[in-house]
Amino acid sequence: MDGNGRWASARGLPRGEGHRRGVEALRKTVRAAGEMGIRFLTIFSFSAENWSRPPSEIRDLMGLLRRFIRNDMAELHQNGVKVRVIGERGDLAADIRRLLEEAEELTKDNTGLTLVVAFNYGARQEIARAAARLAAQVVAGAIDPEAITADLIGQNLDAPDLPDPDLIIRTSGEQRLSNFLLWQAAYSELVFVPTYWPDFDRVALESAIAEYHRRERRFGGLIAQTGS
Ligand code: FPP
Repeated sequence: MDGNGRWASARGLPRGEGHRRGVEALRKTVRAAGEMGIRFLTIFSFSAENWSRPPSEIRDLMGLLRRFIRNDMAELHQNGVKVRVIGERGDLAADIRRLLEEAEELTKDNTGLTLVVAFNYGARQEIARAAARLAAQVVAGAIDPEAITADLIGQNLDAPDLPDPDLIIRTSGEQRLSNFLLWQAAYSELVFVPTYWPDFDRVALESAIAEYHRRERRFGGLIAQTGS
């Protein structure tokens, strides 16, 4: 969800206003994704590297997350959305950890769109956590080092039951992954759109998905599979 700050600067507004409009774009996108029958939507909402921002902006973002969970959870739950959270929770304020746990608990039996909130998330840190879990199992004698395969590493990531993303959309014109789902993105289609996140909407989502459908996916093989 990149470009909130630039969206605000271009209008002479404070960066916080860009983030607030970003939450509105998020609401619209989640609604559209659910209506379009998308099964999983992962949003990069606070990166492990975002702690380097000014304290006032970090406070703004934490406040927006709190408000999003408090104000939007009832509607999400009503619409059958299942919330999952990935990232390191240990560094978050206790009330935020509790809100995230409550959101997951409340929606755990829902069968509609799974909304994965990547919060205090970094892909390298996630892979390091998986490595540490496996190392502990080796030390405990539960597994042999030779038994560590790519699959086993995948099974020790933050949400091992979720499928790898078919499509990753980055807004704002930047063309990089910035430590987002590096392991899971091995065969994802990447679509970069110039739109700043607050202007992202259903039409932009549909257009990125149309681009995805034009791609041929080979997964390292020879036979092309059209994105489905
Ligand atoms: C990137 O724009 C966006 C973020 C770092 C934060 C995104 C967070 C929200 C939309 C709200 C909080 C989360 C939830 C789940 C409600 P940027 O600030 O990097 O923009 P710039 O690159 O133009 O400066």
